[in-house]
Order: sequence, then C-alpha cells, then structure tokens
Amino acid sequence: MTGDLSPIDTAKFVAASRACEFVENGMRVGLGTGSTAAWMVRCLGERLRRDGLKISGVPTSTRTAELARKVGIDVISLDEAKWLDLTIDGADEFDGEMNLIKGGGGALLQEKIVATASDRMIVITDVSKEVETLGAFPLPVEVIPFGWQTTKALIEETLVNMEVLGQDCSLRMNGDAPFVTDEGNHILDLHLKRIGNPRQMALVLNQIPGIVENGLFIDICDVVVIGHGDGRVETRDINAGTREESQLDVAVADNIFADITD
Ligand code: A5P
Repeated sequence: MTGDLSPIDTAKFVAASRACEFVENGMRVGLGTGSTAAWMVRCLGERLRRDGLKISGVPTSTRTAELARKVGIDVISLDEAKWLDLTIDGADEFDGEMNLIKGGGGALLQEKIVATASDRMIVITDVSKEVETLGAFPLPVEVIPFGWQTTKALIEETLVNMEVLGQDCSLRMNGDAPFVTDEGNHILDLHLKRIGNPRQMALVLNQIPGIVENGLFIDICDVVVIGHGDGRVETRDINAGTREESQLDVAVADNIFADITD
C-alpha cells in the first residue's frame, strides 16, 4: 500500500505523524480540519490502539468529529475542555513568521477559536504551502448570511485602501447554492494576490459588520511541521528558534491509509 502513496500524501502523512509525537497521555487536543488534519486524526487513532494513549479531542468541524469518533478518540466539546494543551491543524499558506491563511476547507471559525484556546498550535503542512508573502491563496472570510452582499460591498470598499495586489471578492459556492459553514454562515474568498500587512488586514476586516472571522492566523501558530514527498520532515519552533530535520518511515502508513477521504 505504501507504494500507492503519492509524494503529496507522503508529505502530509509524515508531517502528521511527526506532529503526533508532541501528544502526551491525558492531553486535551484540538483536532484540525482538512486532508492533512485527517492524516493526523488517523495517526492519533493508531497511537491509541498501539500505545494505549488516552486523550480527549476537540474537533474543529463535523467531518473531523466523525473521523475522530471512528478511530476511537474521546470527543468532547470546547466548553467541556475549556482550555487545550495542543491543537494540530493544517494551513493553506504560511510565511516565515508562521502567520497563516486558513479556511480553504471552510472551517476557519471553529479552527481559530480552538487554536486560540490552546497552549500551543502545531501546523502540519507539505512544503508547497510555504510563501514569502501571504495572499496567493484566496483569503477566506466568514460572513453571516443576513445582508452578505452589503458586507461584500463594505469589504471591497475597504480593500481600496489596503496594501494588496488584487481586490476581487467572491461568494464561495457549493454547486448551485452558497457554501454553508458548520455555523450556518457563508464564506467570501478575497483574491488579494499579495497581503502587504497581514496583521493590519486581520484587524481591519474584523471591524466590518457582518464579518464573523477571517482566515488570517497571526501570532497563533507556535510550531510548523513541514513534510516532504520523500519522507523527510522539518520541524520549526518559533519560540525556541529551532529547526530540526528527520526522516520518517512511511511503511506504518499501511495500517492507517484506508478510507482517508477528507
Ligand atoms: C480548513 O478550513 C482549512 O483551514 C485547512 O486546514 C486547510 O485548508 C488545509 O487543508 P489541507 O490539509 O486539505 O490542505
């Protein structure tokens, strides 16, 4: 089965697997959303089975909750957990200061609440997500359905005065209907191409009525684990200022490869 793993899946798997080494017995762990996070949930399930690890998991979406239960993780709500030891999640882009764009999967609101309520956030990613300047990936912004077109117009007006290269703003669709988040909201994708000042952008957007949250994660991520297609994995810790590289054995993916669908 390992031979069937594409380089991109190998990269996601080794990043997820390495990040799971940070999880210790008894921890309350935030469980991210997306294809890389799905690998992480599978890897945690494997550690539960193999090492007898006992943890509680707070999922960031209904689909992650479903997968977590399936692999045997004790799923609790954030209100039950109150505070978390660690959150492990994917990202759509990250820069040299470990600022992120998230929300490509539409779960940015729960992801930001959960990551912010954690002692530490570890981002798992393949090497293609690293950028010098954020913004090539469209910035997801969650808006309430009431008056969303007015909210969109206000965003467009605001973008005129921001340090960006593009100003297009599109409503995310799911087939013929607007995409609906787990919280019943819509997503506007901002095609900014380059975000000159992500910190300012994050603050300004959240001042606009109708915006619930934006996909810029500033000063939230502590560690980024970067997987490569050949099984190499790099771990960068922004607080410790360290960078480590290791080589992971992808053969263990055999056990947990089946039905990764996210
Ligand atoms: C989900 O809303 C996102 O924030 C994901 O974490 C992000 O899109 C990364 O997803 P992949 O791991 O599937 O690339």
